[in-house]
Amino acid sequence: MTVPGRPATIVIFGATGDLTRRLLVPALANLCFDGLLSEELNVIGIALRDGDDESLRVSLDEFAPQTQCWQRLRQRTSYLPGDFTLGTVYERLKQRLGEDDAAFYLATPPQFFGVIVDRLADAGLTEEHDGGFRRVVIEKPFGHDLESARALNQRILSRVNESQVYRIDHFLGKETVQNILVARFGNAWLEAVWNHRYVDHIQISAAEAIGIGTRGAFYDTTGALRDMVPNHLMQLLSMIAMEPPNSFDAEVIRDEKAKLLRAVRRITPDEARSDAVRGMYAAGQVNGQMIPAYRETPHVDPNTATETYVALKLMVDTWRWTGVPFYLRTGKALAARDTEIVVTFKPVPYATFRETPVAHLPANQLVFQIQPHEGIDLGFLVKRPGPQVEAVPVALDFAYAEKFAVAHRTGYETLLYDMMMGDQTLFQRADQIEAGWAVVQPILDAWARGEGVLEEYTPGTSGPRAADALIARDGRQWHALGR
Ligand code: BG6
Repeated sequence: MTVPGRPATIVIFGATGDLTRRLLVPALANLCFDGLLSEELNVIGIALRDGDDESLRVSLDEFAPQTQCWQRLRQRTSYLPGDFTLGTVYERLKQRLGEDDAAFYLATPPQFFGVIVDRLADAGLTEEHDGGFRRVVIEKPFGHDLESARALNQRILSRVNESQVYRIDHFLGKETVQNILVARFGNAWLEAVWNHRYVDHIQISAAEAIGIGTRGAFYDTTGALRDMVPNHLMQLLSMIAMEPPNSFDAEVIRDEKAKLLRAVRRITPDEARSDAVRGMYAAGQVNGQMIPAYRETPHVDPNTATETYVALKLMVDTWRWTGVPFYLRTGKALAARDTEIVVTFKPVPYATFRETPVAHLPANQLVFQIQPHEGIDLGFLVKRPGPQVEAVPVALDFAYAEKFAVAHRTGYETLLYDMMMGDQTLFQRADQIEAGWAVVQPILDAWARGEGVLEEYTPGTSGPRAADALIARDGRQWHALGR
């Protein structure tokens, strides 16, 4: 990392939590291994629990790769126990930091985001002097609806500048997500067909096979819509549908993404009933493993109405996408883990081989496979060899694993690296966050009024029947989950 000039420190609030141990510190160790981390970097962990430098280091050892780099970084890692809501810990932090550049990473429950930024600013810790930096990195969830997201943005931006704020959406740390922009804007032929004249519809799916497990307390106040849609799925939507940016400058890209989200047609109360489906999983098996009904998950209210699945249909009012539906779905305990974007093209305009078996040809599909399989599939029709004319779809497929040596990564490496380099491209700006919430707010409102049936679905399936009906109504069907 070519950061310094001056010594830099990453201060992690919530240093004893899972995010820090499983993802942030291993990502820092991986960056170090790749030669992308300054040897001068210090890490200060803050959390409520009593402890000292060595106890923090030992707790981080469990998931950190055992490399020399980690051993070096480990020695530069220290602990500061304290209550995030009180001024004292910030005074001690100030003494430790001195004039260092610093990034404050808020890996804490969301109720602390506002107060930590306030206390940092009160202590003068967010002031940037002489070309140095002071940055604040904020995890999700950013708000729990439009109003609270706006309030949090206002609170934070009354103390620091937008240029100092890095709002994380970990989907943007995925190579396959970053690749969407390169694939779209690096390939001329794609642009030619990337519009309502050639595209029939687009599906964005983020399916998970696991249930809620031990996350009941968090999930039951959140639900699938809040947990995945305004953030992760809106990022995928904006990347697949945005206009070409005229540079790869962070602000230019973020402008285009925000513009696209603002063009999503506001769902009316009627549409919130007809174009959004919610479901909750019952007890059942996924991949031979029994999972309890969501309502019987520890820390979940047995009478809960929280959804574990959501599907919706959105329209994007731009010249490019007029009339093209975007179907989104996400859920837990489904048939397979599968995050993908499927672009279905319109059928060929004219059936060349009338009254033969190839009079009705299946439409072409381009599939961006985000995870767990990472790649791109382009469906292509070919003639099956033989005397009769028979067209069959085959895939021109690209798999990252076959083409590149991809080392195991946590998904946070690029985000941390970019943040330290001051590149905000992969971070959400205030207006993007609010535009994402604005899309889902009418659905949250409708569900809060008790509208929209909450359908139970069987684990290991593709979700509620109402979701199939939502897309079948338009004469279409979901792409099968799993590969
Ligand atoms: C998180 C959600 O933001 O994303 C989780 O809170 C979800 O509920 C996770 O499981 C999915 O991320 P990934 O990278 O595993 O697809």
